[in-house]
Amino acid sequence: MRSRVFEAAKGLALCALLATPAAWAATPEQMARDAGCLSCHSINEKVVGPAYKLVADKYRGQSDAVSHLVQSVRNGSKGAWGRIPMPANNSLAEAEVKTIVEWVLAR
Ligand code: HEC
Repeated sequence: MRSRVFEAAKGLALCALLATPAAWAATPEQMARDAGCLSCHSINEKVVGPAYKLVADKYRGQSDAVSHLVQSVRNGSKGAWGRIPMPANNSLAEAEVKTIVEWVLAR
């Protein structure tokens, strides 16, 4: 009995160690949904903004893709894809944007 409680406590401690704040919050897709990204974007089709699949294709192989796109998302972007601009997103921390951008680039 005693050792079972101990094992459970060990398991909990391990979970706490392994889980980053982002992992606690949600998957990147859920983060994108919560942040409103998916009201303008979808993975496969153009909505207001470009399909994430196309974004991933365009930047594939570019070494500065992540940092460039983190800036685009945080500061807003215009002219890269068409005439509709993307507004700045100030509500997300840079690390959260990076998590979402890495997910976009893996589409
Ligand atoms: C109001 C609609 C809207 C919202 C909300 C929005 N986007 Fe966009 N997004 C756009 C449009 C429009 C473009 C194309 C802008 C351009 O042509 O430069 C774009 C472009 C992008 C690009 C490509 C930028 C580049 O430099 O090529 C990425 C990546 C992106 N969005 C991710 C996101 C993420 C992540 C979020 C949520 C935090 C988000 N967007 C929220 C409309 C939106």
